[in-house]
Amino acid sequence: MSFIPSDIKGLKTPCYIYDTQLLERTLNAIKAEIAGYENFHVHYAIKANANPSVLRQIAVAGLGADCVSGGEIEAAIREGFPKQEIVFAGVGKADWEIKLSLEQGIGMFNVESVEELQVINEWATSLQKHARVSFRINPNVGAHTHAHITTGKAENKFGVDMADMVRVIRMTEEMPLVDFTGLHFHIGSQLLIMDDFVALCSRVNELQDILDSEGIYAPNINVGGGLGIDYNAPDEHPIPDFKAYFDTFKKGLQLRKGQQLHFELGRAVVGQMGALLTSVLYVKQGKQKQFVIVDAGFTDLIRPALYGAHHHIENLSAEGRTAGKQTYDVVGPICESSDVFAKDLELPTTQRGDIFAIRSAGAYGETMASGYNCRKLPSVYTI
Ligand code: LLP
Repeated sequence: MSFIPSDIKGLKTPCYIYDTQLLERTLNAIKAEIAGYENFHVHYAIKANANPSVLRQIAVAGLGADCVSGGEIEAAIREGFPKQEIVFAGVGKADWEIKLSLEQGIGMFNVESVEELQVINEWATSLQKHARVSFRINPNVGAHTHAHITTGKAENKFGVDMADMVRVIRMTEEMPLVDFTGLHFHIGSQLLIMDDFVALCSRVNELQDILDSEGIYAPNINVGGGLGIDYNAPDEHPIPDFKAYFDTFKKGLQLRKGQQLHFELGRAVVGQMGALLTSVLYVKQGKQKQFVIVDAGFTDLIRPALYGAHHHIENLSAEGRTAGKQTYDVVGPICESSDVFAKDLELPTTQRGDIFAIRSAGAYGETMASGYNCRKLPSVYTI
């Protein structure tokens, strides 16, 4: 892999390394695609990677921020995202988070229930601040991805049911400090089939027809995030196909005059710029299998254990070695059977002290790390 420093021995593993040049190229690709559409706005989904230097680089590039907690809102403001470009989603916004958002004057709340709307109204009244609210509508659109990261089906906990859309919008008419600003959707994550987004566009069009018949205008349409990355071949596809993605919405949505279109991309922005580096502690001969035991575990990168996710793994130390290949299970040191990065993986013959790169780990890697087993959090190097 191209961006690993030549002196990998000097790094303290397990560690994340972030390739700021690839991030810059990815941000430039996004900006180039949306440059032609003055009503397109991209908010970076901070949950994917909240490392301060990554956030600063994305803020400088001019993206807005999509936040799901008060902590993320504070991080976004601290690292330079303009407050009015911050959107705040989440099914369980706590009172302090609502208060913080109103006091800071964020761009808009993506409201997920009538119950939440009422609490926002109470806080707006007591603080005498305007609350700009979009409603997250559950579009009941299936997405072709892992069941744990699909969000737009009727049985999911997210959003307001389509049948209640007009009723909740009308409720804001009785709330002097609550301003209705639009509709929000998010159907799932790691989506590579554009048809899923086409289905979302059709649903948005149907809902807009209903709004028209009610005489309601939504100034903003937010279609969420979800664009996937190539976990199998990160070097072949370091930058996602943003053109196909944005074109899908350009073609599929029938936007009304003046409507602004918002996107909340996370993984597609930061996924490929990160790798988790880990050292081989032992090559253990089991009864039926050979195990490579590395010093990273699911506390550092939980995606394989949690979703059965595939990440491309390479042995950086084996370059030029002629010892042939072997089949290994690559496992971590944590006291749980699920602490496995790959099963039956063919790799160059491996020895203690080798360094592996677990690729495409820039999104939902560092942010999902934990201290289980009193393990230290992974270190991070930006290069
Ligand atoms: N907007 C909303 C409302 C979301 O819930 C999410 C992700 C995004 C935007 C950003 O989605 P992206 O563009 O990154 O797909 N931990 C999982 C992914 C969970 C995604 C949760 N919501 C994983 O490692 O695959």
